[in-house]
Amino acid sequence: MNTAPPSTLPAQTAATHLEIEPSILYFGTPVVLLSTENQDGSFNLAPVSSAWALGRTVVIGLGREGHTAYNLGSRPDLVINLPSPAQWPAVERLAPLTGRDPVPPSKPEGCRFEPDKFAAAGLTCEPSHLVRPPRVAGCPIQLEARAERVRPDVSGDFLIVETVVRKVHADSRIVVPGTDHIDPAAWSPLIYNFRHYFGLGPELGHSYRTRTPRTFQGPGAEPALAGTAPDRDRVAWPKPAAAES
Ligand SMILES: Cc1cc2nc3c(=O)[nH]c(=O)nc-3n(C[C@H](O)[C@H](O)[C@H](O)COP(=O)(O)O)c2cc1C
Repeated sequence: MNTAPPSTLPAQTAATHLEIEPSILYFGTPVVLLSTENQDGSFNLAPVSSAWALGRTVVIGLGREGHTAYNLGSRPDLVINLPSPAQWPAVERLAPLTGRDPVPPSKPEGCRFEPDKFAAAGLTCEPSHLVRPPRVAGCPIQLEARAERVRPDVSGDFLIVETVVRKVHADSRIVVPGTDHIDPAAWSPLIYNFRHYFGLGPELGHSYRTRTPRTFQGPGAEPALAGTAPDRDRVAWPKPAAAES
């Protein structure tokens, strides 16, 4: 809650903030790897950081001329794979690659066509259960999904893709044993922060709405899949009233 008198705000803003024109506004969102099916039945893989969840819907922002957008236009099944922070080098190996041949002029300089992005990134695939595109082995969270609505954004340069998740796969190390909860102390997304890669720092607190029985981590602890996991005490929370995180 902001308790400052309104009259003090303009002066403080002028003293602490600059008006700037950044070329990008990637303020720190999780990276996902989208696997989609190519026309010839092979598979494409692309890193995307414009993705967020609303219930079982995951909304994704895609460059209109990318191969992922092209694939989803006619083959709507996909897998939304969430890599761990340790997988950032594989993500970055995918960064200059497109599955589109010839490479569209809108792609940045240095972008090249690559028909087998799994191999190029050093990643392996594993079969999905409900969709044809494969999951990325080693990604702690894999969401089998279907693009249900695809429409242009206001600029016309991007597509807003609404996908519905049909099956969730989670590495057992990030699941609270015996529950359907992802343990937020064990899982860390890979964050794309103004084109630099980060993991999460230590937990600061939690929402009043959490129902996740959890592992207690002391100050300075890191998520289990972020790198080396420190020792920790297990503290059981009260049994949840509803199965919701
Ligand atoms: C970490 C990261 C995040 C990215 N986020 C997006 C994004 O949100 N939307 C998008 O269209 N492209 C994004 N890109 C760029 C695409 O990955 C890139 O255009 C790639 O060539 C797409 O492959 P495709 O043409 O085979 O679909 C991102 C790239 C990286 C490395």
